[in-house]
Amino acid sequence: MASLLFLLLIIKTSAAENDDFFFYNGFSSEDLLLDGIAGIAPNGLLILTNTSKYMQSHAFHKRVIRFKNASDGRLNSFSTCFAFAIVSEYSDVGGHGLALVISPTRGRTGAFPVQFLGLFNSSNNGNSSNHAVAVELDTLSNVEFEDINNNHVGVDINGLRSVAAAPASYFLGENEGYDNLTLLSGKPMMVWVEYDGQDMKLNVTICPINVPKPSIPLISLSLNLSLIIYDTMYIGFSSSSGSIKTSHYVLGWSFKLNGQARRLNLITLPSLPAPIRRKSKAVHDKLYILAVVLMLVTAMGIAYVVAKRIIYAEVVEEWEVEFQHQRLSYKDLYKATKGFGKDELLGIGGFGRVYKGKLTMSTTTEIAVKRISRDLSKEMREIVSEIVSIGQLRHPNLVQLLGYCRRKGELLLVYEFMSNGSLDKFIFDDTGKKKLNWAHRFQIIKGVASALFYLHEEWEKVVIHRDIKSSNILLDDGFNAKVGDFGISRLYDHGSDPNTTNVIGTIGYIAPELSKNGRITTSTDVYAFGVFLLEVACGRRPILQEASSDVLNLVDWVSKNWKRGIILESRDVKLGNDFKSEEIELVLRLGLLCSHPLHNLRPSMRQVVQILTADGAQQLQVFMTEQEENLYGSGRICDLSAATYTSPQQSESSKLFMNS
Ligand SMILES: *[C@@H]1O[C@H](CO)[C@@H](O)[C@H](O)[C@H]1NC(C)=O
Ligand SMILES: *[C@@H]1O[C@H](CO)[C@@H](O)[C@H](O)[C@H]1NC(C)=O
Ligand SMILES: *[C@@H]1O[C@H](CO)[C@@H](O)[C@H](O)[C@H]1NC(C)=O
Ligand SMILES: *[C@@H]1O[C@H](CO)[C@@H](O)[C@H](O)[C@H]1NC(C)=O
Ligand SMILES: *[C@@H]1O[C@H](CO)[C@@H](O)[C@H](O)[C@H]1NC(C)=O
Repeated sequence: MASLLFLLLIIKTSAAENDDFFFYNGFSSEDLLLDGIAGIAPNGLLILTNTSKYMQSHAFHKRVIRFKNASDGRLNSFSTCFAFAIVSEYSDVGGHGLALVISPTRGRTGAFPVQFLGLFNSSNNGNSSNHAVAVELDTLSNVEFEDINNNHVGVDINGLRSVAAAPASYFLGENEGYDNLTLLSGKPMMVWVEYDGQDMKLNVTICPINVPKPSIPLISLSLNLSLIIYDTMYIGFSSSSGSIKTSHYVLGWSFKLNGQARRLNLITLPSLPAPIRRKSKAVHDKLYILAVVLMLVTAMGIAYVVAKRIIYAEVVEEWEVEFQHQRLSYKDLYKATKGFGKDELLGIGGFGRVYKGKLTMSTTTEIAVKRISRDLSKEMREIVSEIVSIGQLRHPNLVQLLGYCRRKGELLLVYEFMSNGSLDKFIFDDTGKKKLNWAHRFQIIKGVASALFYLHEEWEKVVIHRDIKSSNILLDDGFNAKVGDFGISRLYDHGSDPNTTNVIGTIGYIAPELSKNGRITTSTDVYAFGVFLLEVACGRRPILQEASSDVLNLVDWVSKNWKRGIILESRDVKLGNDFKSEEIELVLRLGLLCSHPLHNLRPSMRQVVQILTADGAQQLQVFMTEQEENLYGSGRICDLSAATYTSPQQSESSKLFMNS
């Protein structure tokens, strides 16, 4: 239970911390103390410097870290890794770099920008009273600090004259040696800084973000930090810019005392802004540029012809640059799903087929790939923008979008894999093989309510799910509920005539007013949620196809039972005696309230969450005594005569519904 709670915490804020570890896969302003020109982009990217010249910035983890053991004062080991990128206006020169720094204070007061990296100033540089340890990623060569070149990694103790330094490069393997890196290439890279408190060894490793951690560090240094590091210190980043417009970014950061820092999740790191870069500063010759352009055009032409033929062909357009971190290659997905093989097919949903896969980036992740079957060529841009931006929402009860891929008019969405599949498989299982007890069901209901509340009210924009139903609720290996298919609502509109309102959703879950006026609101989601509550508590589908003549619609059936004072008899018989009657009754009554035909009488998701958490029964009583009587006292007004269901594949069931 504790670990579950802990997991939820991580996902909730995409960050978690306690006193000896933290993990930021993208940042929020609560995580860090910023100064200078540092800022955090809406997508979570830490911007240490933007294109302002001669500036400095700091971003420190807010909480103090106990670097020495409290009982015997010995140095603790620590491990940290971060992903960064440096983007300069020129490809071959920039300035000045950034550093990870362990410091007695949460900032570096009095430090200078430019070559001092915001770490020290000309009078305190090298003074042992600084008590600062830094790992610098330096992109300019300063003679005064005896820099080895303009592209190096260095370890600095109390001053900028590095105690150890090496040209930026990484170990490939036994026989391949090292490969060089260009720090200001604009490409994201990963850095590990690890210290063994017992052996007194500091290792620094750097590599491109998409390769596994090299087995041999770039710098491995024996270093007794006892006299430099105080018992408790702060850790953060420092950066400075010089005369050339250079942006320094940090994408994610993880830290742990006495253990391995958790790996960053590459697929969900924030993306970098689209690069706007001039050609090399050294290139002035127009003829030379022309020649390069001509060569490029020719090369691209040839590459295009070749690429068109290969199986992995996909489309990347300029507007997609901002999504580059969410974009996955078709080749990787093809391999991950064994060529979209039959055996990997998980199911066929409303929008296309879903495949299971194993994606190997720096680690192996189980994924579900949804292959949208309709041709989206005309609206691809809007659809991708919307899905990807909404896909960045984080909530423990939302299925996480890991990325997307597209080819011509085809879109592929990649989600985290939910090992227990969809909820409907459990609650509608008549074979008795798949069972879900009441405690789990109640937990699932609360999870879904909290996710919907988040979509409706807690995010900056109102997100309407449009298709809440038990088959869209997925279960992870701990039977935690996650709402799927959110954010793809735009697909519903696709291809429809803008002059006709297209009723969307699934028959049985569509609010009466929606089928009349086609207006999608949070309240139509609440209606579907109400039906969902009844499904879970009754273990029945919303439209009972094989039922006797007086039982056709689940909502009506439960409401009849309620009027007869036997609402509890609507419960799922498969539950046996394993349930709490006050909870089931609460859920059934709440389900009726939410699925009331008059939308202004339905509660909001905020009220639903209140009712389901605190003292639910009492809350519901307060809400209901005012409304329940006149809601159901006079019988339900299910005026479906004006219903127009336009979805062709649903015409069978819609007839059934209207005949009722
Ligand atoms: C850089 O960031 C600072 C602080 O956020 C801001 O005042 C400044 O206008 C920005 N400069 C540019 C060129 O974006
Ligand atoms: C180092 O800093 C301390 C405290 O600021 C100062 O008293 C001392 O003179 C400095 N030492 C040198 C060599 O500058
Ligand atoms: C890496 O850069 C160094 C100079 O810093 C150069 O001598 C070496 O040949 C380069 N290695 C590769 C593999 O490019
Ligand atoms: C540092 O690197 C060396 C050499 O690869 C390795 O033996 C040692 O365990 C590493 N130490 C840490 C703290 O990672
Ligand atoms: C590290 O330095 C401290 C303080 O000078 C000293 O007491 C300790 O013995 C040193 N440790 C090692 C392993 O040299």
